[in-house]
Formats: sequence, C-alpha cells, structure tokens
Amino acid sequence: EFFEPHLGIHLEVATSPIFDDKGEVVASVHIARDITERKRMEERLIVTDRLASIGELASGIAHEMNNPLTGVIGFAQLLLAKDIPDDVKEDVKIIYSEAQRTAQVVRNLLTFARKHEPVKQLVNINSIIEKVLELRAYEQRVSNIQINTHFATDLPEIMADYFQLQQVFLNIVINAEYFMIEAHQRGTLTITTERAGDIIRASFADDGPGISEGSLGHLFDPFFTTKEVGKGTGLGLSICHGIINKQGGRIY
Ligand SMILES: Nc1ncnc2c1ncn2[C@@H]1O[C@H](COP(=O)(O)OP(=O)(O)OP(=O)(O)O)[C@@H](O)[C@H]1O
Ligand SMILES: [Mg+2]
Repeated sequence: EFFEPHLGIHLEVATSPIFDDKGEVVASVHIARDITERKRMEERLIVTDRLASIGELASGIAHEMNNPLTGVIGFAQLLLAKDIPDDVKEDVKIIYSEAQRTAQVVRNLLTFARKHEPVKQLVNINSIIEKVLELRAYEQRVSNIQINTHFATDLPEIMADYFQLQQVFLNIVINAEYFMIEAHQRGTLTITTERAGDIIRASFADDGPGISEGSLGHLFDPFFTTKEVGKGTGLGLSICHGIINKQGGRIY
C-alpha cells in the first residue's frame, strides 16, 4: 500500500511473477487498485469509534457529578439569602458562580454523550443558519464581526433535526467569532451554502488565525481545546461531530 502524491490517491499494489519453463522469472504482473475511498472510510470509522467510547465515559462522570453539584449550588444560594458578613458573602458568591460554571460543563458533557435519536423533519439549511445568525447578531455587532452569506436559492429541504443542526451551526459560528476576536478584535465570517450533486454543503470560512496542522487531527476530539484554561471545554466540535454523523452527514 502506498500514497501516490501526484494523483493524490492511495494505491494497493499486488505483484505476481511470471516464470518461464525453466522456472526463471521473466516478467511480473502488477495490479494497482485505488483504495482512497476505503482509506477515508476507515479513518472516519476510527474517529467515530473513539468518540463513542469517550462519550460513554463522559456521560457516566457527568451523571455522577450532577447530584453533588445541585447540592453545592442550592446550599450556596441558601447561604446567600442569610444574614452573613459581607466578606463571607463575597466568598460564597464565588462558590456559587464557580459551581454554576461546572454545571455548564456537565450540561455540555451530557449533550455530547446524549443518545437521543434525532427528530427528523423537513428543514431548510439556509433558514437554520439565518436563525443562528439572528441569535448572534447582537454579540457580533458589538464585537465588530461582519458576516457575508452566499446562500444557494435552490436548496432542497432535507430530513434532519432542526434544533440539533442549529446547535451545530451555532458552535461553529461561536468558534469563529471567538478566535477572530482573540486574534484581531474583529473579523469577517463568510458562510456559503451550495448544492453539489446529491449533497448540500455549508462552508464556514473566517479570517481569524486559522487552525494549525497539528490541531487539525484533533478538532473533533472531546476536550481538545487551545483556549486558555477555564475558557473552553473543547466539547463544541465533538458535539457537532456526533450530531452530524448520527444524521448521515459529514463534518470536516
Ligand atoms: N474558527 C476557528 N479558528 C481557529 N481555531 C478553531 C476554530 N474553530 C475551532 N478551532 C480549534 O478547535 C478547537 C476545538 O474547538 P471546540 O469548539 O471543540 O472547543 P472550544 O471552542 O475550544 O471549547 P468550547 O466549544 O467548549 O467552548 C479550538 O480550541 C481551536 O483550537
Ligand atoms: Mg467551541
């Protein structure tokens, strides 16, 4: 097996010798088969498999953490309502808000690991993206984020889960915003939808820092993040990956 760089394909080559009547090799036959598609499928399966087992672990941990967290948040709230010294109150507020933050991580974990079957209905990809942009419009205005859309007008409706797709596009848009703002306090995000044969493709291109070669292979790994500690869980894209795969799509 080898990779043919000029053609950009993976080849599998079988070689058999041809003998003459004295038993000497006089020629050889090489049969090359293009196995590019098989390679791609294998790679996708490996990622999906790895994500599934991490998902199980994650949901176990998240469920275990839920109850004690509810206790921490509830009792912190009760304490805040009592007549306690101001300096103690400040400390309790920190306990409360940090516990809330942990609860958010747990919620993300549960979303990531959720085994929900998607609810299929006819949806229009353009309208889902428009809805997401509406949700982000205020944030984008105040942080100098410009959006360019090139929506195909002839997109057929597809059977998919509206809210799950909304979640996917939201995660992608928020990532783009975050990394563009971090890099230069502003940015332009270009969103394109198109029909290519029997698939619908939605592409998101931002003018932020881009993604390094080394990160590319880990984008969909749960907990992979290059954000500062405490800023991100690294679950956004793994949630997207789960949703899209479940519905028979591809994200890359
Ligand atoms: N638009 C982008 N530009 C540059 N890097 C990106 C972009 N989108 C994703 N990444 C890279 O992929 C990583 C994983 O993204 P993902 O959404 O899964 O997690 P996160 O954004 O770091 O954390 P969370 O989504 O939980 O807040 C990011 O930390 C970043 O390194
Ligand atoms: Mg993210």
